[in-house]
Amino acid sequence: MRTAEAERPQEGYALGRTPQEYERLRAQARVWESATGRLFDRVALAPGATCLDAGCGPGETMRLMAQRVGPPGRVTGIDIDAPLGAQAVAMLQHTGHRQCNFARVDLTAGEPIPGAPFDLVYARLLLYHLPQRVAVLERLWDAVAPGGHLLVQDYDLHSASVLPALESVDECVRVVTGAFSAAGCDVRVGARLPELFVQAGIGTPDGTDVAGRLDPLSDAQRQFTGVLRSVLPTAIAHDITTEERAAACLAEIAQDAERFPDRPALWPLLIGAWKRK
Ligand SMILES: C[S@@+](CC[C@H](N)C(=O)[O-])C[C@H]1O[C@@H](n2cnc3c(N)ncnc32)[C@H](O)[C@@H]1O
Repeated sequence: MRTAEAERPQEGYALGRTPQEYERLRAQARVWESATGRLFDRVALAPGATCLDAGCGPGETMRLMAQRVGPPGRVTGIDIDAPLGAQAVAMLQHTGHRQCNFARVDLTAGEPIPGAPFDLVYARLLLYHLPQRVAVLERLWDAVAPGGHLLVQDYDLHSASVLPALESVDECVRVVTGAFSAAGCDVRVGARLPELFVQAGIGTPDGTDVAGRLDPLSDAQRQFTGVLRSVLPTAIAHDITTEERAAACLAEIAQDAERFPDRPALWPLLIGAWKRK
């Protein structure tokens, strides 16, 4: 297994920017669609509302927003990855969601957020990656209109495991957790959201939510190995594993998934917090 030049770690983001990684993000988004939808219900996202998806990635949540706000609403996606955002908007427009637009914004650089303020400002799996998470939360809160909501969902990786444990999966979790932590991510940021809201001057959240997934290993292994492949250049750059060890780990997970297809695999928890302005 060779680390291609295009897959080398980029300053400030531990995951890859490859077509395979974008497909993994889309698959992950489908898994969490109902967990996000139920929080849109909690904040009463209604037809005609204006929404911001910060760190929108492939735009799957923008699609959920567009379905709810309808043609009179407006959905803005922002992300540092301009090609991915362009793809997302092309897909959304092609499927009739003409109220969607995208702008490239680096949320750590103090760039203005176009279209602010919004009725709903939403971010999923974004703060996890940003050491400047409190400052970014402050910016997101600034972009909320009076009476609107800030809604954040993020991972707590602590739960990711298989029971009974398998060495192959434990090694995968070790490498993934080590790579993210070395890159400045907070792998428990989901559980820290209430504390971060307070630090950002937003105050105690109006509500919190915890979503989980327990899938057979035969299904879950695709995400476990997909994340491992995606963070591998970061993990190698920080001496957390080698290409050879990672290749062996991936092969062992594939074998274990054939031997123990029904063994329950617990995903990271997806934790939500929201506040009305
Ligand atoms: C793990 S993906 C999550 C995508 C999407 N929110 C979802 O849940 O499917 C994280 C996203 O945050 C974006 N991102 C990372 N750093 C950023 C920054 N400084 N400013 C804006 N977006 C950023 C990445 O480009 C990526 O699309």
